[in-house]
Amino acid sequence: MKVGNLVGLVGWRGMVGSVLMDRMQAEGDFALIEPIFFSTSNAGGTAPAQAKNETTLRDAFDIAALKRCDIIITAQGGDYTSEVFPKLRAAGWTGHWIDAASTLRMADDAIIVLDPVNLPVIQSALLKGGKNWIGGNCTVSCMLMGVGALYKAGLVEWMTTMTYQAASGGGAQHMRELLTQFGTLNAEVRTLLDDPKSAILEIDRKVLAKQQSLCAAETANFGVPLGGSLIPWIDKDMGIGKQPDEAGWGVSREDWKGGAETNKILGQGAGFGSAATPVDGFCVRVGAMRCHSQALTFKLRRDVPTADIEAMIAADNEWVKVVPNNREATIKDLTPVAVTGTMTIPVGRIRKLAMGPDYVGAFTVGDQLLWGAAEPLRRMLRILLNA
Ligand code: HSE
Repeated sequence: MKVGNLVGLVGWRGMVGSVLMDRMQAEGDFALIEPIFFSTSNAGGTAPAQAKNETTLRDAFDIAALKRCDIIITAQGGDYTSEVFPKLRAAGWTGHWIDAASTLRMADDAIIVLDPVNLPVIQSALLKGGKNWIGGNCTVSCMLMGVGALYKAGLVEWMTTMTYQAASGGGAQHMRELLTQFGTLNAEVRTLLDDPKSAILEIDRKVLAKQQSLCAAETANFGVPLGGSLIPWIDKDMGIGKQPDEAGWGVSREDWKGGAETNKILGQGAGFGSAATPVDGFCVRVGAMRCHSQALTFKLRRDVPTADIEAMIAADNEWVKVVPNNREATIKDLTPVAVTGTMTIPVGRIRKLAMGPDYVGAFTVGDQLLWGAAEPLRRMLRILLNA
């Protein structure tokens, strides 16, 4: 059935929402839709320039107003989804809900959208009347955009992922906090830094003393210093109440998402009547701004030459780019600074590991606000408009 083009936009002013708006503008999406802009705080205000007939901001909690929409895209966050989505469905709304938040991701009637990787899963759900389309965890989406080819080829027996996740994954305030900490630490030793003869161990001592004495307000978002440090735990503790040798003990929610969402995106595992691929590892927050990076270890089902692996990865989609596994190319192209603000997903450091010929390592980087958040949502909008 043809999907109408009255599209409600919620959370378009926040960080993910702003990136989404920029991408929709750049790709000409607004030419195809009649947008209605909603606001949680400024109903009655003036809608942004992309508005056509609906130039007034609507109340994002007004179920009757939301019900008019054929499609709703929200980047407002999980609390909004929890509050509004059930009411909207209970009120009989049968439109398409496209959401950046994780709230609904694992629901049986929700599909995690990442169409360059799982278009067949999306199409099959559409045919069955699917209406709930949820963007994946940023780390998982960026990882599958990079190495999805190996999964599609059925080559992966298991995978570990060790992540280096940017401050932006926590939100805008987290990015500010990181930068403020960097500034505070720099200010603490600026005069010593300006003096080439000063002792580095004295600088180090002063930096550590400052890090350890940052006040609660200075670490309000991350809870501990991130500037000049790292935090090897992201999100909630999934293992509370379990015993040390029990599956799931000591697992962070972000670690857990790696396995759960990878399999769900690929349309395998529980709910699809097939075996899941074990995916596990440790998710770590580092002082990068908005690119998530990850070191991957694959146990392949058979020994595949490295050149063939590179060729498969490179041919998978138009955004992935294989970075030659040498020092020069790696430090130039395989960093958050090189990738931020681009749609490119570089995959490098691809090599056989010492454990044996069917063990392969790789490293990949992705902008967590683009492929990790906004882009799969606007692409799902396009899929619906073309359905
Ligand atoms: N949970 C991710 C992070 C962000 O904290 O980096 C979005 O999926």
